[in-house]
Amino acid sequence: MEQYISVPRIGVYPGSFDPVTMGHMDIILRASKQFDHLIVAVLNNLSKNALFTVEERKDLLRKMTADIPNVEVDSFRDLLANYMRDKNAHVIVRGVRTITDFEYELQMASTNHKLNPDVETIFMMTNPKYSYLSSSLVKEVAHFHGDLSDWVSPEVGQALHQKVKENGGKK
Ligand code: PNS
Repeated sequence: MEQYISVPRIGVYPGSFDPVTMGHMDIILRASKQFDHLIVAVLNNLSKNALFTVEERKDLLRKMTADIPNVEVDSFRDLLANYMRDKNAHVIVRGVRTITDFEYELQMASTNHKLNPDVETIFMMTNPKYSYLSSSLVKEVAHFHGDLSDWVSPEVGQALHQKVKENGGKK
């Protein structure tokens, strides 16, 4: 008879999270129910023009996910395919909002699978109420002191307005 060894199912939800929005939180919550352990992995990309530092982004994510016991927040600076090997994880989770997202996501999923054939990408449809939402949009509205309350948590909203103040109007 075949023997089955139960191994924890680890999912990795990678992204820039600059900053985390309600759209990301919706995916995190739903994905946390599909895995024993979900790692939210922030890309530590020095060349990308981020508003928040990686530590700030992780800090906001940790506060937002404090009540979800199987979620861990981490960062990576390597290829995602290598990070997956390091974590012994085989499933990448990505949220898809629109058909436009899908083109890029398909390229990324195929690249990651080529680089690490043990890795599969699963896509979760973004909740339609956040289908237009992005971190870039939220940063743009924050820059002009607009209301962010439907899109980010109060904590993230405060952090965004603080950044805008510190940057003195510069993006
Ligand atoms: O939130 P984002 O910016 O859409 O996330 C993109 C991310 C971080 C998932 C992607 O850029 C990534 O995995 N970068 C790491 C470098 C890498 O592995 N590139 C090859 C696969 S495209």
